[in-house]
Amino acid sequence: MPNPLENRHIALGVTGSIACYKSVDLASKLTQAGALVDVLMTPEATKFLAPLTFRSITHRPVITDIFAPESELSINHVAVAERADVVIVAPATANTIAKLAHGLADDPVTTTVLATRAPVIVAPAMDANMYENAATQQNVAALQGRGYIIAGPASGRLASGLIGLGRMLETPDLLGCIKVVLGRDGDLANRKVVVSAGGTQEPIDPVRVIANHSTGKMGYALAEAARDRGADVSLVTTPTALEDPYGVNVIKVRTALEMRSALLHQCSNADALIMAAAVADWRPTETADHKLKKGDSDTWSIDLVKNPDILAEISGEGLIKVGFAAESEDLIANAQSKLVSKGLHLIVANNITAPDSGFGTDTNRVTLVDREGRTTELPLLTKYEVGHEILDRVAKVLA
Ligand code: CTP
Repeated sequence: MPNPLENRHIALGVTGSIACYKSVDLASKLTQAGALVDVLMTPEATKFLAPLTFRSITHRPVITDIFAPESELSINHVAVAERADVVIVAPATANTIAKLAHGLADDPVTTTVLATRAPVIVAPAMDANMYENAATQQNVAALQGRGYIIAGPASGRLASGLIGLGRMLETPDLLGCIKVVLGRDGDLANRKVVVSAGGTQEPIDPVRVIANHSTGKMGYALAEAARDRGADVSLVTTPTALEDPYGVNVIKVRTALEMRSALLHQCSNADALIMAAAVADWRPTETADHKLKKGDSDTWSIDLVKNPDILAEISGEGLIKVGFAAESEDLIANAQSKLVSKGLHLIVANNITAPDSGFGTDTNRVTLVDREGRTTELPLLTKYEVGHEILDRVAKVLA
């Protein structure tokens, strides 16, 4: 399951909005991820973009006219609809949404949507006034009522110059939405997985914090991997430079104590807790209300008090707990003792001294240690792949 898009058939319907320039990026990212992308364009879309643009990216025919003799749809007008694993209309104009709401099928996009049994995602893109118009709102509600997934729109600057609701979602969100849809019957469907990410920040004064090198990448990758297997995912994270993953419930915290209370709340009905966050073991005994002045002394010390061990403390009926052990020496022995002392099912031992592993990298080299004493040394993998390795084991215990 490391690549949910590999060899999946995605029908991408492109309609006549300037936002279709973003669909080129979407088609490109899908193709790079191994998906087989069939692009369908309305006649209006071809006024914005040449079909050749999509053809060059997807290496597949682009359908612009159902009746053109060279079009696959002229032989079998539902061919693309039948092989699609997902149909996504991006951008979807107000006009196309209205046609879909009324079951019209007068261009390759609407014909394919009407004929498919695959899940349909609609990504609206239009001016704010058009989107807010009661007619569009009713049409969107009608599509939603039929089980279509409405992705967006986002708020922001629109082509008209207006600021408002109507921007098509960006590629990472649309990719996230496609993965959510493809994964919804996965082995973690109907399971709640809580993931913690990032490094906690313990304030000394309004300017300074005690922090660590965690960037949150491992936790975010885990949250996405769990989402892609159908889980309902809550991600409790400290501030990071990473974008919120689509379809994940993101809860932002700063300190260990805030993380503790968010996790206690989230875990009350969860099936698994995966604790990838780097929690500060200590926090300043007091946080100064005003910026501390450096004064004349050449040395300075702050009093610290121990933070609660969140992972050790949280427990629940049937809750599966996975921890991380970031170590620079005695990796396995230290991991094993943390597994026992914190009551874990699995611990991910992470050698932070390896250059391609640990803080801030996109890859990780870890050893998994389980309750039964098994140790599995994994090769260098992306953090997303490591996430799936961990989730394979979580899913097995849950099953
Ligand atoms: N952890 C936690 N609460 C803390 C400290 C750690 O929940 N106050 C969790 C981490 O998120 C990780 C696991 O416990 O999943 C192990 O964290 P690590 O920092 O490696 O170990 P510590 O228990 O802090 O022990 P030490 O710092 O002595 O190695």
